[in-house]
Amino acid sequence: MIEVVVTARHDEAVDICSYELAAADGQALPAFSAGAHIDVHLADGLVRQYSLCNHPQERHRYLIGVLKDAASRGGSQALHEQVRQGDRLRISAPRNLFALHEGAERSLLFAGGIGITPILAMAEALARDGAPFELHYCARSSERAAFLARLRAAPFADRVQVHFDEQPETRLDAAQVLANPRPGQHLYVCGPAGFMAHVLDTAKAQGWAEDHLHREYFAPVAVDTSADGSFAVKLNRCGRTFQVPADKTVVQVLESHGVEVPISCEQGVCGTCLTRVLEGVPEHRDLFLTEEEQAANDQFTPCCSRARSALLVLDL
Ligand code: FES
Repeated sequence: MIEVVVTARHDEAVDICSYELAAADGQALPAFSAGAHIDVHLADGLVRQYSLCNHPQERHRYLIGVLKDAASRGGSQALHEQVRQGDRLRISAPRNLFALHEGAERSLLFAGGIGITPILAMAEALARDGAPFELHYCARSSERAAFLARLRAAPFADRVQVHFDEQPETRLDAAQVLANPRPGQHLYVCGPAGFMAHVLDTAKAQGWAEDHLHREYFAPVAVDTSADGSFAVKLNRCGRTFQVPADKTVVQVLESHGVEVPISCEQGVCGTCLTRVLEGVPEHRDLFLTEEEQAANDQFTPCCSRARSALLVLDL
């Protein structure tokens, strides 16, 4: 855990603020790579993940951008309403689940709304390395697009295309941008689920290989839970078995029996609760594991994932 001070807070767009964080002890912060995020610990035990959007070579500060989301579960609202310049916060060291692929011949970056935050750091890193890339930034309007002035003043401004819903002539033509994929090209996308699905589905339809598509979700994709049933989990180390009813998660059931599993996002996004599965077949509902990792069925995220088999034996 790192204690930081909010050294600046700026309104970046409608409902979007940036927070500049520096180590409370004045020391350099841990290094990070483009695409990394930090956990921010808020009041009442809330923990939320935010991508770092400053230049990855900086060590004197972290910069995060926060959208005050109407559907917020409390995190973005707490930051917007309660956190001011001079306040102290506790954060985790950076983790990167959305890293740039080394050696890519060309990178295509797609940001939707607040999804610009990790994409900004990626553009800075690619520009620093002299690597070819283009950045497509989609937003409802210029008033709702954070960091526009920074992008327009950046040394890579000529590689940025901005697309506003309110200006149909600027709309992103994903099929055209993603046509004719070449083997050395990699795609990175971050933003609302619908935007991401549009970019990724278009890429796949244009023949892009799955392992060249990189994504970071801010929130889970909606899952139909109407057919959820109950199943049992057995803790291998103590031999205890618990039934997980349809309306409870594995984490909730374990917690009610005094078994703590570390959690953070509780939405299958962050990977904090990742647990080894020794027997049985999970029903994966996370966005953290890759398709191959999910198919191996030897780990799952008990904050949201369930079971296809009647019993899961966990390495707990
Ligand atoms: Fe984040 Fe489970 S707590 S994936």
